[in-house]
Amino acid sequence: TETYENILVETKGAVGIIRLNRPKALNALSDGLVTDMEKALNAFEDDAAINVIVVTGSEKAFAAGADIKEMMNFSYMDAYLNDFITKKWGRLATCRKPTIAAVAGYALGGGCELAMMADFIIAADNAKFGQPEITIGTIPGAGGTQRLTRAIGKAKAMEMCLTGRMMDAAEAERSGLVARVVPLAELMDEVMKTAEKIAAMSRPAAMMAKEAVNRSFEATLTEGLLFERRVFHSTFALADQKEGMAAFAEKRPPNFSGK
Ligand code: CAA
Repeated sequence: TETYENILVETKGAVGIIRLNRPKALNALSDGLVTDMEKALNAFEDDAAINVIVVTGSEKAFAAGADIKEMMNFSYMDAYLNDFITKKWGRLATCRKPTIAAVAGYALGGGCELAMMADFIIAADNAKFGQPEITIGTIPGAGGTQRLTRAIGKAKAMEMCLTGRMMDAAEAERSGLVARVVPLAELMDEVMKTAEKIAAMSRPAAMMAKEAVNRSFEATLTEGLLFERRVFHSTFALADQKEGMAAFAEKRPPNFSGK
């Protein structure tokens, strides 16, 4: 795999791992970092040997947000013409392969937004989530007012976006922001177990399940159900569906080919 300045990239079996790595700035999402991340995500998406993508940070910080020092003097046109901020960051949200955010420490501002772009978040017990943009005179710009509201509802999202307060891991789990909380020392083991479990499923079935769940955020219930049913019907064209059901009937583990 390629080496980057602001991230560490490795693969374990069919799982691709991107570790945000700007420790001196608590992984603040500089242009350099998100450019690296976009390239690494493109590479994993194109790599037929990778089934699942994990994005993580350090024990102290997943990411403390957009790089404040880099953007502080931006003009409106600097922001507008470059489509700041989702042009590069948004790549995580458009990945077709399943993605997991493994969050320890701070996930603030753009860090929280980036985590919410993953399919789901597994958090360490020291994780802290927040949208503190209001405290620096701006507002969330990469999904904080939209994905957070869908995840935890209006009352908590409003309170967080208006006060900038942080939510700890237990509250994040209670509120539906994260799938699961685990002890910090076990975070990567638990995330890798989960990632490997997904990676062992039929890749097209996993991609289709993800596509269908994501459809629920865009469609009415009737349209969403129709989309689901059509995709479900299409799984009967998969060799993996034949294999999965035959394996069940024959009381043996399935051996998916990814086709
Ligand atoms: N941008 C740039 N640098 C940052 C940063 C950020 N978002 N967050 C932390 N850093 C830097 C600090 O400036 C500091 O650098 P120096 O040592 O050179 O001074 C270093 O990282 C360590 O940070 P602290 O000394 O502040 O560490 P702490 O443990 O005392 O506090 C913290 C941790 C509470 C996370 C605090 O760093 C903080 O509040 N960070 C900013 C959080 C924030 O406001 N994020 C939102 C950004 S706006 C945004 O993301 C826009 C969007 O929606 C897309």
